[in-house]
Amino acid sequence: MDKLFGILVFCSLVFSVQNAMIESDSATLPKIDAWWGPEDGKSDQDTSIRQFRIEFKNEMIEDLRYRLKNHRPYTPPLENSNFTYGFNTKNMENWVNYWADSYNFTAREEYVNKFPHYKTKIQGLDIHFMRIKPEVPEDVEVIPLLIVHGWPGSFLEFYKAAPLISEAYEKTGFAVELIIPSLPGFGFSSAAVRKGLGASEIAVVFRNLMQRIGHKTFFIQGGDWGSVIGASLSTLFPDEVLGYHSNFAVSYALGTWATWFGAFPSKAFQDLIVQPSMANRLFPLTTVFLGTLAESGYMHLQATKPDTLGVAIADSPSGLLAYLLQTVSGATRSTNKNKEDGGLYDHFTQDELLDSLTVYWMNNAFVTSLRIYAESLNVRNVNAGVHSIKTPVPYWSLQAINELRYLSPAMLKFKFPNFLNQTILDDGGHFLAWEMPEVFSESVLTALTAFRNVNSKQICKVEL
Ligand SMILES: *[C@@H]1O[C@H](CO)[C@@H](O)[C@H](O)[C@H]1NC(C)=O
Ligand SMILES: *[C@@H]1O[C@H](CO)[C@@H](O)[C@H](O)[C@H]1NC(C)=O
Ligand SMILES: *[C@@H]1O[C@H](CO)[C@@H](O)[C@H](O)[C@H]1NC(C)=O
Repeated sequence: MDKLFGILVFCSLVFSVQNAMIESDSATLPKIDAWWGPEDGKSDQDTSIRQFRIEFKNEMIEDLRYRLKNHRPYTPPLENSNFTYGFNTKNMENWVNYWADSYNFTAREEYVNKFPHYKTKIQGLDIHFMRIKPEVPEDVEVIPLLIVHGWPGSFLEFYKAAPLISEAYEKTGFAVELIIPSLPGFGFSSAAVRKGLGASEIAVVFRNLMQRIGHKTFFIQGGDWGSVIGASLSTLFPDEVLGYHSNFAVSYALGTWATWFGAFPSKAFQDLIVQPSMANRLFPLTTVFLGTLAESGYMHLQATKPDTLGVAIADSPSGLLAYLLQTVSGATRSTNKNKEDGGLYDHFTQDELLDSLTVYWMNNAFVTSLRIYAESLNVRNVNAGVHSIKTPVPYWSLQAINELRYLSPAMLKFKFPNFLNQTILDDGGHFLAWEMPEVFSESVLTALTAFRNVNSKQICKVEL
């Protein structure tokens, strides 16, 4: 048995090496100075960093209220369907009325401006970011951390965690400056005007953002697409990234998948790639994959026909609300689909969910946010192979029990040979910083402490 497993692992290693070689031959790695804005904007090489205040303008609010109030009747849900057919329309009036009548735009505008916001031009894009500097005594060392959100998230996910991370120096001995950008086409960052801005290319944009701010080296935290972007950034600029903490395990290294598929037939094989206590997060393979298949239809649609979906949603705040909140519900707990209200109120406040929707709505960012799927999940990107190339950057994995995917250390080491350690949770879901800010912050601080204790150049051997 062990012999067979050994052969399997050996083959998968050979394949991944071969794969990496073939891929790097034909690779179209992202270009450091690719231009994503209008061609005629190239003469504008403004490198200033501008302060920026988010405004919920009256005109936007009036128009939004009008659309919320003037929707056609929602189709009643099927009996006992709860959220299993998607957003249950029995909840729609409550949400729509709350957004139109009770959501306090003035108070929420104050809330979203609680941290300092900036914009700067990078590669033809106007990139929005928060820069949260800790207020600490002068002799406290301050380290920079880039936090990258995903879909359908935003910079707003980190409002509760930010102060817990940035000013914990009495416990950790260091303080943290947070740089939290909006992905291009999300929030207040402008969108590309041409094809090709996928996760690896966004990694380059954010690396250039960090250089612009003056951080030659920095740490990264990422979840969802932010996790893919963080992995790309760590792969493309290993000398600049001092450590990478991720709450969404991603590795497209062939070894990761080969061990997973190779190990499924036998418990003995499984024990070699995952601790027995964690095995139920990976196996039975059919349960895990059927579960993923049932919940990931949106991904295929967004990766192939984002603009069609965009036309419908751009006109309808109820449509935006149902589409985004159903995803938040499902990604937070798979069991939320069996609740009439989608379990949304169990984990988040109505106001904070509506803050996020308001930001998507006012920037008309729905369709531009979907395009990251089309630009990343495609043959060009697979051929470029950035996601399967190993990175020596020290890595820390935070794995919530309800996260969409679990990968064991042995599997992640094919991508992150310098895997330091992990935080395993028996609670929590996909939007962890939003849902459990204390737990999230604690893991980030533990990881940052560990990163500071290792030589970032040291490359560990892959061992199972
Ligand atoms: C909305 O919030 C503002 C600012 O916090 C406050 O002054 C105002 O009274 C609130 N409006 C309502 C209707 O509660
Ligand atoms: C639907 O949700 C209600 C309340 O959230 C729950 O009591 C009921 O069991 C659910 N029905 C199904 C079929 O899951
Ligand atoms: C990894 O983290 C766990 C829990 O945080 C801890 O108990 C363990 O000692 C750590 N392992 C190493 C090698 O640092």
